[in-house]
Amino acid sequence: MAAVSLSGKRVLLVVSGGIAAYKALELIRLLRRQGCGVTCVLTDNGGQFVTPLSLQALSESKVYTDLFSLTDESEMGHIQLSRAADLLVVAPATANILAKMAGGMADDLASTVLLATDKPVLVAPAMNVRMWLHPATQANMATLKQRGVQVVEPNEGAMACNEFGPGRLAEPPEIVAAIEALLAPGAKPLAGRHALVTSGPTHEPIDPVRYIANRSSGKQGHAIAAALAELGARVTLVAGPVSVPDPRGVTVRHVETAAEMLDACQSALPVDVAVFAAAVADWRVEQAATGKIKKQPGAAPPSLALTPNPDILATIAAAGPRRPRLVVGFAAETDDLMANAQGKLKRKNADWIVANDVSPETGIMGGAENAVHIVSAAGIETWPRLAKDDVARRLAKRIADALG
Ligand code: C5P
Repeated sequence: MAAVSLSGKRVLLVVSGGIAAYKALELIRLLRRQGCGVTCVLTDNGGQFVTPLSLQALSESKVYTDLFSLTDESEMGHIQLSRAADLLVVAPATANILAKMAGGMADDLASTVLLATDKPVLVAPAMNVRMWLHPATQANMATLKQRGVQVVEPNEGAMACNEFGPGRLAEPPEIVAAIEALLAPGAKPLAGRHALVTSGPTHEPIDPVRYIANRSSGKQGHAIAAALAELGARVTLVAGPVSVPDPRGVTVRHVETAAEMLDACQSALPVDVAVFAAAVADWRVEQAATGKIKKQPGAAPPSLALTPNPDILATIAAAGPRRPRLVVGFAAETDDLMANAQGKLKRKNADWIVANDVSPETGIMGGAENAVHIVSAAGIETWPRLAKDDVARRLAKRIADALG
């Protein structure tokens, strides 16, 4: 399912210097896949991190580096470069180029093009956390935003300089999403919709240090939240304890237990669509101990009295007037997949059940791929084995079609 929402659009991509410049290569690949033309301008510093040849190979276009190259000026002057584009994107944007843009400097091809353009500009900053938080950079950002420059904010995380904090370049798909929002707003069929997604396992405490859990990684649920956001939905993701990062552009409520997950879901209502991808623990310990349960020499191991957790999907699907228009559940099974999925569809009052076989030999649990069947009152639709991200995109598209 090749999405070509940027078909026929042209981006002038300015690659400035920084360790994150390698991500520009992936950005070009994704843009080209969307049908977008890309022409690159590489700064001198950028050229320390990626070569003109790699940019040229991926963009399939000449790469511009030099303000005073006579051929370039006669064939394609710096004014013409930006005229031919629908959008200028600076990724990665260093503290230096942001400062030059804010100050109106034009001392190389990139800064000159950026000063000479009347096209929209999107910047994706990337730098050391202290450079990003420095009042000079923050003041430059405020100036640029006030002038209408669009920003894909940097992410928080571990950095190449062994520090942690905001300053990491946004991931290429996030930059593509921002480009789409600017160049192809019609490609956002879920704009104005609110989606709720649950993801990951729940942890049910036994005592302050022990808990009951399961092997859900949250990969599929998080990918669904990201895919719905990519289509323009406002997404609330209620996530159990997972190690996958929060998807960008999504409001994440972190919870531990099923009871907390239900609370967070109820307070997210009303929503247009709810996707329950979490592997909620079926039982919790009736009375979790307030102190650590001690091992007593010679004593029998403690027995745990369990009590059922609330069924979040069934509760939200029975929410009367607050029931989402579309309720999607998951059935991860090792036996009798279809019969179980159909049973769940009725019992839980869901509209669709996404059924997948999680027998260990499939490698699906915790893996990168998924093979699913969409079970609904209309019948069963079987999808090929796909990357979890692609299952998510396909499901998001189907949700968009269903909501109309
Ligand atoms: O009954 P089972 O756990 O197999 O049902 C799976 C579906 O129900 C999933 O969509 C899961 O997220 C949802 N569920 C839930 N709350 C529970 C148990 C399951 O939302 N307590």
